[in-house]
This record gives sequence, C-alpha cells and structure tokens, in this order.
Amino acid sequence: MTEAVTRDHEVATHPAGGVSNHLLPPLPYDPAALEPYIDARTMRLHHGKHHASYVEKLNTALETFPDLQQKTALWLLLNVGKLPMSIRMAVRNNAGGHVNHSLFWRAMSATGGGAPSGPLADAIKRDFGSFDLFKARFDEAGVALFGSGWVWLARARKEGGRLEVITTSGHDNPLMDGRFPLLLNDAWEHAYYLKHENRRADYLNGWWAVVNWQEAARRYERSDDSAVS
Ligand SMILES: [Fe+2]
Repeated sequence: MTEAVTRDHEVATHPAGGVSNHLLPPLPYDPAALEPYIDARTMRLHHGKHHASYVEKLNTALETFPDLQQKTALWLLLNVGKLPMSIRMAVRNNAGGHVNHSLFWRAMSATGGGAPSGPLADAIKRDFGSFDLFKARFDEAGVALFGSGWVWLARARKEGGRLEVITTSGHDNPLMDGRFPLLLNDAWEHAYYLKHENRRADYLNGWWAVVNWQEAARRYERSDDSAVS
C-alpha cells in the first residue's frame, strides 16, 4: 500500500506511540452547508449515526485482535480474505462503510457544483464524449443500482487508465477491484429518504450542485499506477 492511498485514512495515534481505535472524522463543513440539496437532518443522521455506527462496529469486530487494530480501515478492506473468518463480514461491511463515507464527505462542498477543469475534464471528455454524457451515465447507474450501494467515477489501472462509471454493492470500494476512486455518491436510502422518500433520481440529479470537483481533480492527479499498487 503506497502512502498515496493510506493518506486517505485517519489513523489516530496514542501519545505512547500506538495506534488507537478507528475514529469518526469530523464533517468538513456544517451539517446545513449542503442545503437545500442535502438537508441538515439527513446529514446529521448520516454522519453522526450511520457513519459513527460503522466506526463503532469496526472497533467492536477488532476488539480481540490487537494486531489488526494497527491496520488502517483501507488495509483491512483490501485484505479481508486474510482476516479470521469470524470477522470477515463485519470488517468488510464496516471498514467499507468507514472508508467510503470518509471519502464521501470530502467529495462534496458548499461551494461545489459546476464542471471540472484541467486534466480531469479532458479525461471525462475523452472517455465519455462530454461532461453531460458522463453525468447522464452516472445518474443512470445510480438509478439502476439494486438495493444499497455506491456510484463511482473511477480510473482503471489498465487500459490506459480509462475512466469508468461503476456501482458497488453494500460498502465495497473500487480499489477492491483495482480501480482508483475519483468521485462517489451514496445510493443507500439513508442518504436521501428523509427528503426525497423513494425518489432516488431526484436526489442523484440535485447532488451535482454540491460536487467538489477540486477534490475529484486532486484524486485524478494522483491516480496513476503508483497510487493503487
Ligand atoms: Fe451512507
């Protein structure tokens, strides 16, 4: 795992030098900052209850495995097959939930929206035809996703680093399949149901107004092979 990937994760350090349990990262903005596209009540529950619960359950799963407590959530997710059978499912679900939500908060901004510029914009045009065609593909994938999961813009390791829109079930992450995540949207009902009820398409459509393209561009610029090996 390279530094570029592990940097994505908050690893709190004890004064004594050991690594503590996983921690809920603070929201990078006020819960009401993304109104009206994402309401403050949804944001408080999503971050303070749902994400917090994944962190708590991950810590619980690792309670009797001190060696594994030293690992980052991303390492645990990418090495789930090496873990004791008794905790594999709990770690996959909850390390994944922790990793993905930590990325998700940073993928949005109160000053977001608009369109990307620079190399990411060029790559989107190259691989999807246009920015609008990319957005349509992303929305379609989000609507078509059955059950709970995530929609991603990801960069393939092979095929010249082509950009792809993909979905994952549960809290799986594209890095589990060798793709580097650039942008993600949460398509679990808990992300939108209070405001939009069953209208997932409305949520997906409005979400573009809060996308943090600077963060996506930053991730694209370090998404070469060295970052996913
Ligand atoms: Fe979520």
